[in-house]
Amino acid sequence: MPTSTSKLPPASGMPVLISQQQIADRVAALGQDITTDYAGKSIVLIGVLKGAAIFLSDLARSIKVDATFDFVAVSSYGRARVSSGAVKLIKDIDDPIEGKHVILVEDILDTGLTMSYLRGLMLQHKPASLKIATCLDKPDRRLVPIEADYVAFKIPNHFVIGYGMDYAEVYRNIEDIRLFPEEAARN
Ligand code: IMP
Repeated sequence: MPTSTSKLPPASGMPVLISQQQIADRVAALGQDITTDYAGKSIVLIGVLKGAAIFLSDLARSIKVDATFDFVAVSSYGRARVSSGAVKLIKDIDDPIEGKHVILVEDILDTGLTMSYLRGLMLQHKPASLKIATCLDKPDRRLVPIEADYVAFKIPNHFVIGYGMDYAEVYRNIEDIRLFPEEAARN
């Protein structure tokens, strides 16, 4: 059911947590790390829709080994800010990953439920290796033990929007990462 977004505040009034430049610098550094770690190999980047789309497109261009893309989609928060805990696969990978070097690319590692579920699912396909890259990590919120191999930024427990991340599907195209106001989330 579509949600009315008419009452949502403009992103311009929200404090910037991580600037465009900071994002660009860290994503470039992660790309270099991945390039070094996978030298001489090719990789499959699997993005988790929709939040990771922008991070994946920037990260992919800073990686200098051969990389193909695939995407999965899982049930999301929708308008609620708290995960129901139930993760459902909405879209599976298009191509086989058996014997391939795979990096799952996520926007935020929060409770860890999504990544834990996806990691288990991907391992069933028997990739040669499986790592996780995330733009943001909120370690304080973790409900299941899972860590990313590549983390752009560790952040405190606060809801954020921008750089692919949404509230009620809005704000994904904001170029920096901003703190979403708690009071707006309660309305
Ligand atoms: P997890 O399963 O709790 O780790 O949730 C991961 C997903 O929750 C992320 O991929 C995001 O889609 C969403 N999420 C968690 N925290 C935030 C946030 O601060 N802003 C926007 N989306 C978030």
